Amino acid sequence: MSDTPVHSPRVALKTPLSHIHHMAFRCRDAEQTRWFWEDVMGFPLSFCLAFDTEPGTGRPMKYMHLFFEMGAGNFIAFFDVPEHADEALFAPKWNLDLHIAFEVDTLDELKAWQKRLFKHGRPALGPVDHEFIESIYMYDPNGIGVEITVKSDRHDNIIAHEKAQAREALAAWTAETRALKEKNHGEKLDERGIYFFPPKTPA
Ligand SMILES: [Fe+2]
Repeated sequence: MSDTPVHSPRVALKTPLSHIHHMAFRCRDAEQTRWFWEDVMGFPLSFCLAFDTEPGTGRPMKYMHLFFEMGAGNFIAFFDVPEHADEALFAPKWNLDLHIAFEVDTLDELKAWQKRLFKHGRPALGPVDHEFIESIYMYDPNGIGVEITVKSDRHDNIIAHEKAQAREALAAWTAETRALKEKNHGEKLDERGIYFFPPKTPA
């Protein structure tokens, strides 16, 4: 891997990536997941694909892949794989490990969402004031953290201020935490150049 820093990939690349087409998670149950993401969150079910074999390996495996459209070309997707569904997979994730944040335009809308979620039996924590945003938090039925957030009046100013010092802050943090990370992760700490699939020059 090149050591050349890529600071602005959207600008520097000839073929920049755009939005998130989909994020995919495991679910306990496709219908319960549909209830939450369609009836509660309001993202229409787009398609449900049922399969008998695992893609890539051809290994026999019964599963459903379902997609909900979030608008602007973004989908949230789930795999329902009843034969491989350890209950531990669905324990509520620590928010610092995983969560998805959706944005509303006003604080009133945020509070209306909190009421709506409560009515659907999904009480949400908050609003929590993060200065640049205010957020409420809860979980989907599969243990995925869900945040709804609204930008504060100071959002753009705070972002601009932080952006100006982001690289300096990152360098200081890296220096401060390096020794602990080396202790925790050893030689696995640097994953650059590590591959999961056999190296093969792409066609
Ligand atoms: Fe967040």
